[in-house]
Amino acid sequence: MEVKIRKATAGDAKGIARVHVDAWKSTYRGLVSNEYLDSLSYESREQMWAKVIDSNKQTSEDFIIVACDGNEIAGFAAGGRSRDSADKFEGEIGAIYILEHYQRMGIGRRLMSAAVGHLFDAGIASMIIWVLRENNNAIRFYESLGGKLVGTKEMKIGDRFHTIVGYGWDVLEYQFKEWNKR
Ligand SMILES: CC(C)(COP(=O)(O)OP(=O)(O)OC[C@H]1O[C@@H](n2cnc3c(N)ncnc32)[C@H](O)[C@@H]1OP(=O)(O)O)[C@@H](O)C(=O)NCCC(=O)NCCS
Repeated sequence: MEVKIRKATAGDAKGIARVHVDAWKSTYRGLVSNEYLDSLSYESREQMWAKVIDSNKQTSEDFIIVACDGNEIAGFAAGGRSRDSADKFEGEIGAIYILEHYQRMGIGRRLMSAAVGHLFDAGIASMIIWVLRENNNAIRFYESLGGKLVGTKEMKIGDRFHTIVGYGWDVLEYQFKEWNKR
């Protein structure tokens, strides 16, 4: 298996949507409401990602990066400038998802490295990622990459409020070099 990391193109919306919906269902079952998870559909996510890709969202700051195993999209990461100015971190990874059977093979680290490289090239020096407080696996992943717990807030998913925790990185140049050494 040779997984390649590259920028997303218009034809990737379907594969990204599949990863998004499947990873939400396998990760968040029991953490967020079943009604919300059951309402997620490939079609609506595909439309959403197609719009994001097509409407030139991939500016010099914004990015969508995919991990491909042949024609299959195994995972993706998306982000850009931080969506919340209160965060005090310039950049943000808003989504990073990998299909369950591709997890824990180093793809997440490679996607993070590509995302950080993109932000760094765009002149963005720090970044934050928000994660559901109960998502222990993702929290261990961020901690293993040097992320520090920097905040907590509430987010509505479906009809319920959930606590999300922010993991921050201060100096992306340093992270970029460190992760690429491995
Ligand atoms: C979280 C996620 C992005 C991590 O990507 P990944 O490819 O599985 O992780 P990697 O293989 O690159 O792991 C890198 C390091 O992170 C740590 N790590 C990753 N997953 C871990 C886990 N489940 N438990 C403990 N440590 C973990 C380890 O130190 C690992 O290094 P090692 O395998 O050499 O020990 C991926 O598992 C995923 O998509 N999970 C489901 C969706 C999700 O939770 N997304 C985040 C939403 S905020």
